[in-house]
Amino acid sequence: MTKTKVAVIGAGYVGEITAFALTSKELANEVVIVDIIEDMPKGKGLDMRETTPIIGSDTHVYGSNDYADIAGAQIVVVTAGMPRKPGMDRMDLLKVNLKICTEVMNNVKQHAPDAFIIYVANPVDVLTYVASGIMGIDKKKVFGMAGILDTARYRAFIAMEANVSVKDIRAMVLGGHGDSMVPLTRLTSVGGVPLSEFLPQDKIDAIATRTRKGGGEIVALLKTGSAYYAPGYAVAEMVEAILKNQNRILPVIAYFDGEYGFSDVYAGAPVVLNKNGVDKILQIDLTEDEKEAYQVSLEKVKKGIEEAKEILKTL
Ligand code: LAC
Repeated sequence: MTKTKVAVIGAGYVGEITAFALTSKELANEVVIVDIIEDMPKGKGLDMRETTPIIGSDTHVYGSNDYADIAGAQIVVVTAGMPRKPGMDRMDLLKVNLKICTEVMNNVKQHAPDAFIIYVANPVDVLTYVASGIMGIDKKKVFGMAGILDTARYRAFIAMEANVSVKDIRAMVLGGHGDSMVPLTRLTSVGGVPLSEFLPQDKIDAIATRTRKGGGEIVALLKTGSAYYAPGYAVAEMVEAILKNQNRILPVIAYFDGEYGFSDVYAGAPVVLNKNGVDKILQIDLTEDEKEAYQVSLEKVKKGIEEAKEILKTL
């Protein structure tokens, strides 16, 4: 059997939790964490490797300062970038993280030109678009993580409010990873029963609002950065879907080629995720209100992409 290998670029909190989630769930034979800060990724990787006998994982995890070590990875996860500080919007990170994105992706293209890319750093929809342009491979193989995180927040809030198990909550959050994202409350179910049987509409609306601002809520509490546990584990769920060819139905930042009437943009969509990457975007029947909210959210992302193109000319 082919050896499975995942590379994680960026050994900040999101990168390290991602690597640890992959290791603890034994999702790949090999996990390498690459960062340009001297020795630091090696220290984190070695600490994780020394954890594997305790948790019973045979994943060979290690850190490196050398992009050559990502060679052979089937999947590359890009977490490198600055996190938000309180009061910042994800788009405020565009300039600095765009520069990091181009540097990282040029290295990834050189050393793992055929790998699937899961982009994570913010503003994630825009940077996934840029990363995809640099890789120049099939757009089904380049995508971003946001929807699983946003949906996880939404599901956690529902569990807290309705006093039910998170395991039974099924939900979908669409659109850009920003405050205009669209939690599909109408299609949310608990154990197959519509959410409206558990909570009144005003409570559901409040949960949707809290979800849209969920990233900012964590930033305001941490004060020095953004969330990392849920983002790291969300990436691991995507990696598992690809490596195990699971045909998962998940919200993923995918490339639109006419779906829902949108083109030439990356944003959150319901997709089938399997060994082909984003096998397809599912086209769900949406209400007029949902379509309008989706449109508003996608237009914000498109505006961000235009801004990115302007900044790229100056880099
Ligand atoms: C969040 C940031 C990481 O939503 O986008 O937590």
